[in-house]
Amino acid sequence: MTQSFGWVPEGVDVTVPDASRVYDYALGGVHNFKVDREFWDRAERVMPSAGLIARANRAFLGRAVRWLVDAGITQFLDIGSGIPTLGNVHEVAQDADPAARVMYVDIDPIAVQQSRSLLSGNPGAAVIEGDLRRPAQILYHPEVLELLDFSEPVAVLTVAVLHFIPDSAGPASILSKIGDALVSGSYLVVSHVGPDSTPAGRQAQQQAVKLYENTPTPVILRDAEEVAALLGPAFELVDPGVVSATDWHPDPEEAEDPPQPAALVVLARKR
Ligand SMILES: C[S@@+](CC[C@H](N)C(=O)[O-])C[C@H]1O[C@@H](n2cnc3c(N)ncnc32)[C@H](O)[C@@H]1O
Repeated sequence: MTQSFGWVPEGVDVTVPDASRVYDYALGGVHNFKVDREFWDRAERVMPSAGLIARANRAFLGRAVRWLVDAGITQFLDIGSGIPTLGNVHEVAQDADPAARVMYVDIDPIAVQQSRSLLSGNPGAAVIEGDLRRPAQILYHPEVLELLDFSEPVAVLTVAVLHFIPDSAGPASILSKIGDALVSGSYLVVSHVGPDSTPAGRQAQQQAVKLYENTPTPVILRDAEEVAALLGPAFELVDPGVVSATDWHPDPEEAEDPPQPAALVVLARKR
């Protein structure tokens, strides 16, 4: 089906759930369709922790960006950036440092269009359509090279996107190619769905994984060791290493013993 709504780019299929629109709905956004909403409602029924994973992931993203700005990072390449919602990377980064520059990349034309419209008039932020499976096309894209200076540190964000990249597409090799383009002192941020900590939770997860198998973006679960292995020798893990999203530098006002969603996160520094 082609577009039936003014804001939907031509050619976008609104008859199958799409990862960016489903996540948009999960976070309370409005750029999604019935098929996305029904999909997420079904996923939450079989795996009630799904909403917590989405919210904890998004909260981690904000904390990671603030941490990076505090560490002196002013350039961000956010791959798999999603449909803009609350706490977008450029808002968090430019709030902390108005000189921060942010390049967004997503494979989904709706995410790109909505980002473009939000970023209009912001000289420090831009968006391109791109596929993480083809990192060179992102890293050497003229608009990326115009906004970001790769002779200086850059933080590359792959947040809640690597679990859509199967082993057959070589996720470690993709991250290695990204690492090759970065100078020492750059950072890589990863969040990735991992196995639930309880047998009942893992069983529920398997049902949700099965639902995703019927979408264009099946989900691949990787445990902490597998996520760390994706980073390769070019990166050193920043404390506390690979942990559940809520355990990564929690804000002081957050609950002391928060639930631990099956969202594994890590921040790593280019050696
Ligand atoms: C769950 S959303 C995450 C959005 C944001 N990074 C966050 O964590 O809040 C995943 C995004 O990855 C995008 N995506 C999936 N596969 C991709 C690929 N191969 N290249 C680029 N983006 C991709 C989807 O379109 C979607 O917008």
